[in-house]
Amino acid sequence: MAVLLGGPSAEREVSLSSGRGCAAVLRDEGFEVVELDAGPDLAARLLEIAPDVVFNALHGRWGEDGCVQGLLEWLKIPYTHSGVLASALAMDKERSKEMFRAAGLPVCESGLFAKSEVAARHVMAPPYVVKPNNEGSSVGVYLVAEGANTPPNLSDDMPEIVMVEAFAPGRELTTTVVGDRALGVTDILTDGWYDYDAKYVPGGSRHVVPADLPPEITAACLDYARRAHVALGCRGVSRTDFRWDEARGLEGVILLETNTQPGMTPTSLTPEQADVFGIGFGGLCRWLVEDASC
Ligand code: DAL
Ligand code: MG
Repeated sequence: MAVLLGGPSAEREVSLSSGRGCAAVLRDEGFEVVELDAGPDLAARLLEIAPDVVFNALHGRWGEDGCVQGLLEWLKIPYTHSGVLASALAMDKERSKEMFRAAGLPVCESGLFAKSEVAARHVMAPPYVVKPNNEGSSVGVYLVAEGANTPPNLSDDMPEIVMVEAFAPGRELTTTVVGDRALGVTDILTDGWYDYDAKYVPGGSRHVVPADLPPEITAACLDYARRAHVALGCRGVSRTDFRWDEARGLEGVILLETNTQPGMTPTSLTPEQADVFGIGFGGLCRWLVEDASC
């Protein structure tokens, strides 16, 4: 099989780490694995190698948004994780929220705005968050704090259209779905914001898994994560992230987003849930390969 990793997105380094980790456990599982850095010659390389299966370990644009999935459909090579439409929908944060709202899932108020408008005035009452509509790993996320007088000073490399969403306070929870099973809930503890460094620097965050939560909150996360996976039409594995404002009880659970290519790095949440909830990282990767299609 070919493990696709790297690629040109802002999450290239994360994907290199995910892909190397997956390739190593797949070799341990007995597969013959070629690691393929997804560059402009990807189609030619795939035709040359002619793998039976592609294990997609890409993150971010082109690898997680339906583009590479479309190429693999075109080449008729079975691949892991979600297909074209679910990938495209999940990567578009605002459109995925429209799907979640239609499915009755709790998401916070949000909208798409021109960058110039967001830089000129508060487009919603602080606290709120500004982010690219289609990046992962907290790349380009701005928090505008409660009481802030001025709008955010957005960097030049932010896209022309950005997503603005009401800040959801509370604990950071996450649930991995494998097929039709939601594995469990992780509670992510950080000193500050769960940003890029907190996600990938060893010791940047602490994970309590299974999370110590009231049973109805655990049940809600499992139910919402499964329904989000179905609402977007995901395949294979997905990971849905939440905030929980304890003071508001069940009403305080807010679905932030669903990731169709969840991180598989040594500090990532999905491999850890696979270990704690009895599948194991190797078992999860093997299951993904067996689930692959095109
Ligand atoms: N975007 C990163 C890889 C994640 O969701 O885990
Ligand atoms: Mg994400």
